[in-house]
Amino acid sequence: MNIAHPSATAAQQVTLHESGLTLPLPDQPQAYFNYHWLRDNCPSSFDPGTRERSFDIFHLSEAPTARAALIEGQHLVIDWAGENHRSAFPLELLAGYTQGTPRPDPADLKRRAWFSDHYADVARFSQPDLLSNHSAVTRWIEALLVEGVAIITDMPDSDAGLTDLAQVIGTIRPTFFGSYFDVKTHINPTNTAYTAAALELHTDTPAEEHAPGIQFLHCRANSVEGGRNLFGDGVAVANDFRSRDPEGFRLLSEIDIPFYCEHDSYDMRSRQRVIELDQHGEVSGLTISQHMLDLIDLPQQLLDTYYPAFCRFGRMLQEEKYVMRFTLNAGECIVFDNHRIVHGRAAYTASSGDRYLRGCYTDRAEMRSTYRALVSEGRFKS
Ligand SMILES: [Fe+2]
Repeated sequence: MNIAHPSATAAQQVTLHESGLTLPLPDQPQAYFNYHWLRDNCPSSFDPGTRERSFDIFHLSEAPTARAALIEGQHLVIDWAGENHRSAFPLELLAGYTQGTPRPDPADLKRRAWFSDHYADVARFSQPDLLSNHSAVTRWIEALLVEGVAIITDMPDSDAGLTDLAQVIGTIRPTFFGSYFDVKTHINPTNTAYTAAALELHTDTPAEEHAPGIQFLHCRANSVEGGRNLFGDGVAVANDFRSRDPEGFRLLSEIDIPFYCEHDSYDMRSRQRVIELDQHGEVSGLTISQHMLDLIDLPQQLLDTYYPAFCRFGRMLQEEKYVMRFTLNAGECIVFDNHRIVHGRAAYTASSGDRYLRGCYTDRAEMRSTYRALVSEGRFKS
């Protein structure tokens, strides 16, 4: 290959400009690429061992400019001005970056809303199977991405059983309460969850700047009277709210409100939107917790419209249509998206038996990372 003397046909295919070049690609006859982007993303910029970028564009003394460029076979070949370097880009790689659109993400699956009758259809997996079977893990994460909830059966009656399960999709992610929490009646409760009282539908620890993403609740004992588990799909409710009450939806998806969690040794505060939208403008989740809602410090006039909308949504969340009621059994672990699925429980009689749930969290982003590694080739796998 002698790039200094390209054939006339090939030379005509690439046009050099001041800051970039154009070349024909299948979906765009005049696809434009910026020289900085091309130089920075030369395939040689990436170390095959670490798979990280080893080239540092900040070390170039001059803005990169092509001295010559041509299409050879299925590659764009560039000789760079001012340095002894040649780049060869697969045309297939370039074709993915012509439109300035985000890189396709295999974990960006379409959500499926569910309603009160969902219990029989909740995706179920066996804990021992998940520890050894990659295809079961793939289906488990798909259930969490699409429906936001799954029930794991055959849980060992041990602390390690929960840790082993959570680590399949991520690292245990502490909150300011620690790495694990035990939901049972406490003598001096610092949280409504640690009493026998009813617990309204909520997402966990919204007072944290980044509330944990995936929640695990491992039922170790449940022989009390009452205490039924309540779960609802925030996406189902918020999607219906969007069409029923567009102005209310706008307020709840655009305005941050304060949450808090305060006791003798901590004073956690954050601001969150009740309805969370993803990069497509679709509802991706909720943040809501009446027991951690701070005094809303918005202008009082704004509250004339915000508060009624907030109450309309909060009441809608409790409509029978949306609330799935069931009893989690000892030996089961419910796993759910803490930014999407609201959970609560009916009151129970503490003296009627034992009720013990042990819980922990992992991250949403790390779960998506695990999923991509399972289902896609990425850019570096050979
Ligand atoms: Fe909770």
